[in-house]
Amino acid sequence: MLQFLKELPKVELHAHLNGSLGMDSLCELAERLYGSASEEFSQLCARFTRFDKDSDLDACFEKFAFVHELTSTEEGLRYATELVVREFARDNVQYVELRTTPKANKSYTRREYLQHVIDAIGEARKTYPDILVKLLPSINRAEPVAVAEETVSLALEFAQSHPDLILGIDLSGNPGKGTFSDFVPILSLAREKGLKLVLHCAEIENPAEIKEMLNFGMSRCGHGTFLTPEDIELLKSRNIPIECCLTSNVKSGTVHSLEEHHLKRLMEADAPKVICTDDSGVFDTTLTQEFLLAKQTFGLTRDQCVSLTLEAVQHSFATVEERQSMATKVKNYMDSLQK
Ligand code: IMP
Ligand code: ZN
Repeated sequence: MLQFLKELPKVELHAHLNGSLGMDSLCELAERLYGSASEEFSQLCARFTRFDKDSDLDACFEKFAFVHELTSTEEGLRYATELVVREFARDNVQYVELRTTPKANKSYTRREYLQHVIDAIGEARKTYPDILVKLLPSINRAEPVAVAEETVSLALEFAQSHPDLILGIDLSGNPGKGTFSDFVPILSLAREKGLKLVLHCAEIENPAEIKEMLNFGMSRCGHGTFLTPEDIELLKSRNIPIECCLTSNVKSGTVHSLEEHHLKRLMEADAPKVICTDDSGVFDTTLTQEFLLAKQTFGLTRDQCVSLTLEAVQHSFATVEERQSMATKVKNYMDSLQK
C-alpha cells in the first residue's frame, strides 16, 4: 500500500509554504544561508530538533516563527519556495495549491514577498515540470485588517498578471486570535472580484464564529474539526469540501488521537472531503503518509484513496483542462497497475 500511495499522482489542496519545509530542506536552507560550519547553523538545527517535543497549537506557531527567520531574506524565501516544490514533487504530488502570508521586513515588502515566491515557483517548475503549482495568498487573522486589505489588493493585482497562478485567498493564522467579522468586508471584496475563498474554519471550538463563517460561505473549509453534524450536512448540501489534515490536528492537539479524527464522521456522512498535509515540514509528514494513516486508522481501501484523489481534483481551483489532465494521470496510473 505504501508503494501504491507513494506512486499515486496525488493532489494537495491545503499546504502552507513556510510550514512545508521538512527537516532536510531546513538544514539545506540553513546551510546555504549560513554555511554548515557556522555557529548559526548548529544553533538553528539544535533549536528545531527541540521543537518536536511540543504539541499544542501555540507551540506550533512558535515553530512557524522559527522557519520565518530562515525565509526572512530574498535568498532564503526564494530557495525555500523551490525546496517546498521539490518536497511535493518528490512525494509524487502532481498538483499543489500553496498558501502563504505575504510578509514585510527589512529585506522585502509584501509586494516583493509575493513577487519572490512567484518567481521561485516559476524557477522550480523548470526543474520539476511534472508538478503544477498554484498560489493562494493568506490573510493572517492575528494581524490587523489593514494588512489583510493590502494582501487582497496585491492578490488581485498579481491575479491580473498571473491569472493561471493566483486563484484565491486563504484565511489562516492562530484561530484563537483575531475576530472573523473584522475580515468580512475585505473577504467579500476579494470574492466579488473573482478570488476563491478558503477559510480555516472550526479549527477550535467557537460555535458563534463557525456559524458566522458558514453563513458567509467559502469554496473550501480548512480543518472543520468542531463542525456539528448539522454543519456537515450544510456543507454537504453546498458541495463544500472539508480539508482534513490528520497529523496536523493530532500534533497541534485539536484532535486527541487519529482514531477520533473527524475524517471518520465525514466518511460516514458521505460529506465532501479531501486529505491534505497542512504543514508537512512542521508536522513531519507527507501526503503519502497522510493517506497511509487514513488507511491504517479507518481502513481506507485503494479505491477509496483514488476516489479521494479524484475528489481533490474536482475541488481544486485548476481549470477544466487542468483537472481533466490530472484525472487522466490518475487513470493512467491505475491502468498501468492492471498490466
Ligand atoms: P506561511 O503563510 O507561508 O508563512 O505559512 C505559515 C503560516 O501559515 C503560519 O504562520 C500560520 O499563520 C499559517 N498556518 C499554518 N498552519 C496553520 C493552521 O493549522 N492553522 C492556522 N494557520 C496556520
Ligand atoms: Zn492550515
